[in-house]
Amino acid sequence: MSSASFSQLAEFLQTRSGLVLTPDKMYLVETRLGPLMKREGLPDLSALVGRVKAALAGPIANEVVELMTTNETLFFRDGKPFEHLKEKVWPRLGAARGPAGTIRVWSAACSTGQEAYSVAMSALDNAAALNGCRVEILGTDIARDVLKRAEQGRYSQFEVQRGLPIAALMKHFTKEGSDWRVKDALRAMVRWREWNLLDPPTPLGRFDVVFLRNVLIYFDQPTKARVLDQVASVMAPDGVLYLGGAETVLGVTTRFAPIDGVRSAYGLA
Ligand SMILES: C[S@@+](CC[C@H](N)C(=O)[O-])C[C@H]1O[C@@H](n2cnc3c(N)ncnc32)[C@H](O)[C@@H]1O
Repeated sequence: MSSASFSQLAEFLQTRSGLVLTPDKMYLVETRLGPLMKREGLPDLSALVGRVKAALAGPIANEVVELMTTNETLFFRDGKPFEHLKEKVWPRLGAARGPAGTIRVWSAACSTGQEAYSVAMSALDNAAALNGCRVEILGTDIARDVLKRAEQGRYSQFEVQRGLPIAALMKHFTKEGSDWRVKDALRAMVRWREWNLLDPPTPLGRFDVVFLRNVLIYFDQPTKARVLDQVASVMAPDGVLYLGGAETVLGVTTRFAPIDGVRSAYGLA
């Protein structure tokens, strides 16, 4: 792999998705893009980069982004944000919005949907705390293939075993062959949309709760700041932002400040 074609690929990925590809990730390029190059009959990375640059809006360019992003996720990931949601946020927002109100939640960079469905389960299981408020969830991601899976709501035994308590599995899923599918009540609470976090999110509307987890880690500092500031612009004044365990707003933006002594929870500053 020539360093010129690696740099061109890195530049394309950063411009398109924010993903920073450092030279130590060369092995990742080989393992993730190798099968695509083989399928397309492309002899090397520079031929693939040529194809991408020739049609930046084409399917190959999208596929390269999808293959290079990390889609790792699981139900109720990290636990703490979901405890905080149940103990503090549902009761507070439920009281503030009232029985006729709606709480809008954005699972930004939702991957295959486990995060959005975890929020939906939390809302259904804590209806009393919500004071009759409706909860509406939007799951978005840049990658079409993961969104398709999210929408299907069908998960393998291995996937449901990661993070999902058995009682929740029995209550909210039905068995389909060797897989599990989310029940209609859960599915009805979530909508899905392809969305690039680099774009201003104004068309998505206003949100009371935003899960923006395990995606900022792939971006450089200016991109993190830009995405966080854009998220701040669509948050309700009393809204809550959750970041991943390895992410923080500190030193990145002054638009958010930590709340309730919870490491991953932030409110507008
Ligand atoms: C590691 S997953 C995180 C999933 C989930 N939020 C969680 O914490 O379990 C990261 C997701 O970010 C998405 N992603 C990467 N760059 C993006 C961008 N610029 N806009 C929207 N989504 C992006 C990837 O497609 C991937 O599904």
